[in-house]
Amino acid sequence: MTKTSAWDTGRRSTRLRLRTTVVSIAAGALAVGTILTVAPTANAATTLGASAAAHGRYFGAAIAAHKLSDSTYVGIVNREFNSITPENEMKINATEPSQGRFDYAAADRIVNHARAQGMKVRGHTLAWHSQQPAWMEGMSGSPLRQAMLNHVTQVATYYRGKIDSWDVVNEAFADGNGGARRDSNLQRTGNDWIEAAFRAARAADPGAKLCYNDYNTDNWNWDKTQAVYRMVQDFKTRGVPIDCVGLQSHFNQGSPYPSNYRTTLQNFAALGVDVQITELDIEGSGATQANTYRNVVNDCLAVPRCNGITVWGVRDSDSWRASGTPLLFDNNGNKKQAYDATLSALNLNPPSNPPSNPPSNPPSNPPSNPPSNPPSDPPPSGAGCSATFSVNAWTGGFVATVKVTAGTSAINGWSVAMNLPAGSAVTNSWSAQASGTSGAVRFGNVSYNGRLNAGAGTEFGFQGTGTAPSGAPVCTAS
Ligand code: G3I
Repeated sequence: MTKTSAWDTGRRSTRLRLRTTVVSIAAGALAVGTILTVAPTANAATTLGASAAAHGRYFGAAIAAHKLSDSTYVGIVNREFNSITPENEMKINATEPSQGRFDYAAADRIVNHARAQGMKVRGHTLAWHSQQPAWMEGMSGSPLRQAMLNHVTQVATYYRGKIDSWDVVNEAFADGNGGARRDSNLQRTGNDWIEAAFRAARAADPGAKLCYNDYNTDNWNWDKTQAVYRMVQDFKTRGVPIDCVGLQSHFNQGSPYPSNYRTTLQNFAALGVDVQITELDIEGSGATQANTYRNVVNDCLAVPRCNGITVWGVRDSDSWRASGTPLLFDNNGNKKQAYDATLSALNLNPPSNPPSNPPSNPPSNPPSNPPSNPPSDPPPSGAGCSATFSVNAWTGGFVATVKVTAGTSAINGWSVAMNLPAGSAVTNSWSAQASGTSGAVRFGNVSYNGRLNAGAGTEFGFQGTGTAPSGAPVCTAS
């Protein structure tokens, strides 16, 4: 399949901690590059979601509402994943089948199931040239623009507070050279249709992360990747509310996993957005397929703002490309080699992101499984941390993203104090435990992100009403 034809044809986290049994290491020995022997652990996380959660990330799947009565399917979903994307149920033709008449029945079945299981929900998708209902396909110009914005507003408002990340706009760029926008009825309403959709989504659900989602944006050298990058850069520069970029990452012979994939993730993240792998599937089988899944996981874990991976289906037979056997479970629901590679990549990586400035003389053979967060460790002497934050603000509210970085020693926990202006209040937070909602507020680590190696960082966020804080956050390590 060629690049350009790719689409036209078409937990409850158990909070298991990654543990290792480690030979004792003298600091001096590490400094001279002694080879370390590390035995992997008896207690590594045994599911994708739990292992991803140990990294402060999610591992999700796209699911179909009509399969929720299939016990094998639901068993895998509930056991393995801590995020869910409705595969088709939130698309425009499903949620607004006739203009002004909204139908959330199928999407609600998925959202309710996910929430009952403590899973995140990725919303997919609010504005797209495809899967439009007939009434919308027949529209153009200003009436279409208004109908699109009304759709975004109604659906995002209905699901307000229930969606972790929204694919606000899907697949708006053309394939091939040049990086032009895709021609569509939405594009013909004016080039600003994308930012208009993002602004409407932010107003409707200020707590959801707002993503631009596309395919064939994995290879850093492709024009389409560059074009999406420039759009996100422009949005960030002009204050258009965007929080994340989704890379669909459907890999096959015509659109293979690129060796510069990590560079692409890093470059998008450097714009100040989260990066999410949103529709991962990798055609193939056996060790080759498994190795590509391993590479994708390693790339995501190497980029602090790559905060989640979603596979596009559960069993091979559930895939939109079933004949390519692109998923982690076979038709009978058995784990494939690709599953084992994915889980072991999640478990073998250290549970926090590597320092952004690694030592210039790292050990020649670093441990593949370094000691991780033994709960009884005393705080190392000289431990410390720092915190910086960025804000997306609008009239009456804001979302703050705080980065916590360990100092020159590893730390076992952290707490960040911030002062909110009078009249402002914290309404929710993620990846941290909040104390207080107004005035002097404090955010402490949660179970999976307290332990940070020297120089390593983690992020948490909170949403508030009123004016965003402006003073420097104060980080205290434990
Ligand atoms: O439910 C009807 C069924 O009643 C009918 O008998 C049958 C006949 O064709 O169609 C069924 O609906 C199909 C639906 O999937 C559910 O299986 C649609 O025809 C079919 O077009 C639809 O395909 C979906 C496709 O998006 C539509 O564009 C795929 O399931 C879904 O995996 C795919 O997902 C997209 C993402 O949204 C965006 N990125 C690419 C990705 C893969 O194409």
